Amino acid sequence: MDARTPTAERFVPTKPPEHGPLPVWRLFVGEMAKNPIATVADVSYDLPYASRRIMGRMYHAVQDPDGIKRVLLDNQPNYVRPSFLPRLLPLIAKGLFGADGAEWKSQRRLMAPVFTPANVAEFMPIFQDVGRGVADRWSRQVPGVVDVARDATGATFDVISAALFSSEHGLSGDEAARHVHAALAAAGQPRISVLLGLADLDPGSRGGREAQGVIRERIAAFIARRQANPDPPPDFMTRLIAAFSAEHEPKEAAQLALHNAVTFLVAGHETTANALAWTFYLLSEQPQAQAWCAEEARAALRPGATPQEVLDGLVYLRWVLEEAMRLYPPAPRIEREAAEDDELGPIQVRKGDLLGIWPWVVHRHRLLWDDPDAFNPENFSPEAKARHHRFQYIPFGAGPRICIGAQFATAEALLIAAEWLARYEFAPAPGRQVEVASDVALRPKGGLPLRVKVRKG
Ligand code: HEM
Repeated sequence: MDARTPTAERFVPTKPPEHGPLPVWRLFVGEMAKNPIATVADVSYDLPYASRRIMGRMYHAVQDPDGIKRVLLDNQPNYVRPSFLPRLLPLIAKGLFGADGAEWKSQRRLMAPVFTPANVAEFMPIFQDVGRGVADRWSRQVPGVVDVARDATGATFDVISAALFSSEHGLSGDEAARHVHAALAAAGQPRISVLLGLADLDPGSRGGREAQGVIRERIAAFIARRQANPDPPPDFMTRLIAAFSAEHEPKEAAQLALHNAVTFLVAGHETTANALAWTFYLLSEQPQAQAWCAEEARAALRPGATPQEVLDGLVYLRWVLEEAMRLYPPAPRIEREAAEDDELGPIQVRKGDLLGIWPWVVHRHRLLWDDPDAFNPENFSPEAKARHHRFQYIPFGAGPRICIGAQFATAEALLIAAEWLARYEFAPAPGRQVEVASDVALRPKGGLPLRVKVRKG
């Protein structure tokens, strides 16, 4: 790859206003409660650890890469999913994301083969077709303003539907996006009732429960149809249903299949869509970087190139995507609960304490990154990467519970972005200020309208 000369002045993209530590009650009311990353005090970006008692429970923020390594890898069995998770997201509690211990291990073993690099390569034509489909549609809308975040969400939903469900799950894209959004928004807010273990009594979670109800109904019907089908398509869901049915009673098997179907629909689409949206936000603000990515995409998409060859050609675009996920990690918070006491650097962890590893903070930490709030794709050049601590960049988590879809999502985002960049130019929409919104996900608030026109040449 040619050396790209960084511009003298680095671009500092949007972020919530800085502020000092907030009193605990501010975490639970008003705008702050709706946007957890906006509650982070300025000093957190300088501290390796910070502990705080919140409504009677100790919460340790872990920002030191060695501490993160202990929680996510070295002493991983001690740090389990928080016990409030099933109350927040009851529809995924028994699936791969929610399970712990032996149940998690057996599910992970069952699913891992679907996400190996060789298998992800089989999905790549889907990524390209979906990306091209959106680009074709845009030809009727441009020049003009397009909500790239909304179209990215539609695209990644179509991808996960086709790749894992043979597009048969019975939810339409718009409807799914709305319900997934409502379920995540309700689950991601730091409500007092949740910490006290009373989420079921919280009227604020009603919208989330309704959304989960619709998702449950549709997916349960889909699984029942699949179980009754003597000749189902040989896809991920058929494989799961068969494996669970071999080991469990039909009711339990159907429930495990349901929780995993929802897990993969939820975890597997909005995250990647937000990675794409933030990438396009950054590139819309940085025309030089965008021109380099477009040039690379056009060269990579030469006639006859296999999807893998295209992917291999997207070297600079990959740095940009990685930098976008550093500045805007689509999953901005990772949380755990201590099963037993432990020593974590200077911290005495007690059984039942909560631990927060927030990629949002770790990726902007001043002890770990040079000029942390600035957009600098060179952070991901091979030389720069060799200097990173393995646990200072964790958009997909780390250790045994690292995102099972990491390669899938990366290939998907790159191949879709290449299709879009090769054909179009993206610029900020006039009068539009991009802001960060967060719950369980991190997204541009209210979408990402960009001015799109056909790329010349
Ligand atoms: C850019 C896109 C994505 C990001 C940033 C992302 C991020 C993450 C993170 C941080 C975790 C670990 C959470 C923790 O340790 O508590 C995770 C787990 C998980 N992700 Fe992703 N993810 C993405 C895409 C996907 C896709 C495409 C799929 C499925 C096709 C997926 C499925 C899952 C599942 C099932 C887990 C739970 C794994 C386990 O506990 O064994 N994710 N993801």
